[in-house]
Amino acid sequence: MQRKILVTSALPYANGSIHLGHLVEYIQTDIWVRFQKMRGHECHYVCADDAHGTPIMLRAQNEGITPEQLIADVNAEHQADFNDFSIAFDNFHTTHSDENKALASHIYLANRDAGHIETRTISQAYDPEKEMFLPDRFIKGECPKCGAADQYGDNCEACGATYDSTDLINPVSAVSGATPVTKESEHYFFKLGHFEESLKAWTRAGHIQSEVSHKLDEWFEGGLRDWDISRDAPYFGFEIPDAPNKFFYVWLDAPIGYLASFKNYCDRTGVDFDAFMKPDTTTEMVHFIGKDIIYFHALFWPAMLEGAGFRLPNNIFAHGFLTVDGKKMSKSRGTFIKARTYLDHLNPEYLRYYFAAKLGSGIDDIDLNLEDFQSRINSDLVGKVVNIASRCAGFIKKRYEGKLANTLSEPALFEEFVAQSDAIAARYENREFGQGMRDIMALADKANQYIDDKKPWALAKEEGKEQEVHDICTMGINLFRVLVAYLKPVLPETVIQAEAFLNIEPLTWPDIGTPLLSHDINKFKPLMTRIESDKIEAIQAASKDTLAETKSKPVQSTASIDKNIPPIADEISFDDFAKIDLRVAKIINAEHVDGADKLLKLTLDIGLAQRQVFAGIKSAYAPESLIGKQTVMVANLAPRKMRFGLSEGMVLAAGPGGEDLFILQPDKGAKAGMKVK
Ligand code: MSP
Ligand code: ZN
Repeated sequence: MQRKILVTSALPYANGSIHLGHLVEYIQTDIWVRFQKMRGHECHYVCADDAHGTPIMLRAQNEGITPEQLIADVNAEHQADFNDFSIAFDNFHTTHSDENKALASHIYLANRDAGHIETRTISQAYDPEKEMFLPDRFIKGECPKCGAADQYGDNCEACGATYDSTDLINPVSAVSGATPVTKESEHYFFKLGHFEESLKAWTRAGHIQSEVSHKLDEWFEGGLRDWDISRDAPYFGFEIPDAPNKFFYVWLDAPIGYLASFKNYCDRTGVDFDAFMKPDTTTEMVHFIGKDIIYFHALFWPAMLEGAGFRLPNNIFAHGFLTVDGKKMSKSRGTFIKARTYLDHLNPEYLRYYFAAKLGSGIDDIDLNLEDFQSRINSDLVGKVVNIASRCAGFIKKRYEGKLANTLSEPALFEEFVAQSDAIAARYENREFGQGMRDIMALADKANQYIDDKKPWALAKEEGKEQEVHDICTMGINLFRVLVAYLKPVLPETVIQAEAFLNIEPLTWPDIGTPLLSHDINKFKPLMTRIESDKIEAIQAASKDTLAETKSKPVQSTASIDKNIPPIADEISFDDFAKIDLRVAKIINAEHVDGADKLLKLTLDIGLAQRQVFAGIKSAYAPESLIGKQTVMVANLAPRKMRFGLSEGMVLAAGPGGEDLFILQPDKGAKAGMKVK
């Protein structure tokens, strides 16, 4: 029976770029959706930017643009990134839309009328200068436990303590630098506790993964607290219909944004929105999310829907977090990789395959190990799958005028491949993509083994073996066809090229079992090439460069507090230290760099050579003041291509940055080129 399925991925915040962590989710969902479509189901995949909230409002102010303009720019960037990764949304909208405003009002009013909304007055930190209430992350001060300076919000990065932001010592507003005061205001609360019984039943009825529902049990034990759904002006969001100057908290209208995007799509395409929304619908609604936002999706969201008389989701599928080389993504390690940085260097299908090979149905974190990534792609996709076609295609083209034989010489082998179709379909359906990829690669091994055994290249040199060679290569091409059909949800672009080579209509799941016989194929072009190490290095280097850009947009303007001494870094060996070639360098020129607000271009003399270095010291030094000075540089650092040119090393400076930065200078008597030990 044909299923009708509405599928969503979580809505990315409209104040940052898409990175590889996000892509775990969008790739996972996209593979699932493509699989459903290939099976012939009606499946609608929608998403949107999550455009509201204080951080977006403040970032727009910092950049001197309206929030509308900021979210429009980011929307275009996000869509380009998704498109280039072949994330095939049927609709990508924004939560700052008419549809969302109407639906958010509707759902809120229905809940209010049913008695699920309550108001009461609370007191909160308030910035008297900026005249706004301050979310925790916009208040900084000293940790009440350990005294570390410059701690944000409600937890300390130095000692790990958690506390109320009102407990911070010497608190300041990160927005204006003013000392926050406490101010009262009326807030709107959603009575989550009203839904306790139905949420308990719903979360235990197979709609969410079992490990997630165990986690939710803990939350039930702690008791369901009222949820504060209002924020005071100024706030970038929707005004609450019956409450002037009060706005919906961003997380109230964010999940409603799923429906709003779908509504926008239905209005455009004629799909029946209401049929999907009514409580007794036979349509399905499925949300893919990361494990950090389970609370919102498994408790608040079904409760809001129930309170408004809408259908509930059939499934919430949570996934784990991406780590790179076993660690949290980090800018300093060059592992905070933006989607665009990756795209600048590598084929997106490699990452789609790698994530597929790593993903299971659970919420374990998944690791992108860059070496493993490289070898997995080279051996599986290039070495196994593409290889099958390249070993057979030439013979067919040259010796048989591009035509496949008219029978399968080994029908049993072909059947063995086709017989896996239900099992592999089940892997996709159940989000056991990793297991599915292993199943497919086991078949690819078999196909290569078949060709190895038959050795068509040897037979081709013998006389009277024309038919045999034709048969073997026809088998090889047919096995390749089944494999690419299985891989199509994961490798959509590669498979489009494979379809062009095979000269066939787009592959669907139901016709996997029909072999290609007496059929003309086209010239084979290599579908993929190996990943060379320099590409991965380039991605890492470029990811380090984005550090300077991100840091150059401070959200706050408070005086820096010098007690904030960073902790000592991890221990390194003497050998690690000895690798660093430090040299006395004479600054023979220093100049401004057009378009760079932090960098100076330095020309350094290190005796043996001159080096050009871009150093982020402009806020501390006028270029003229540097010329003629000596400093210390890392002379053997791999050169880095920056937006402005090549940087061939680094100069050493002390301090946290900004004006508080001091280049290191050797004592009198040191000469350019001397080794620093
Ligand atoms: N705007 C909210 C979601 C609202 S949905 C109604 C949000 N946005 S986000 O941009 O921070 O994250 C979007 C999705 O990407 C979330 O599901 C989140 O879990 C996921 N990921 C963000 N970083 C991730 C990793 N490092 N690894 C895996 N998934 C990650 O949350
Ligand atoms: Zn602390």
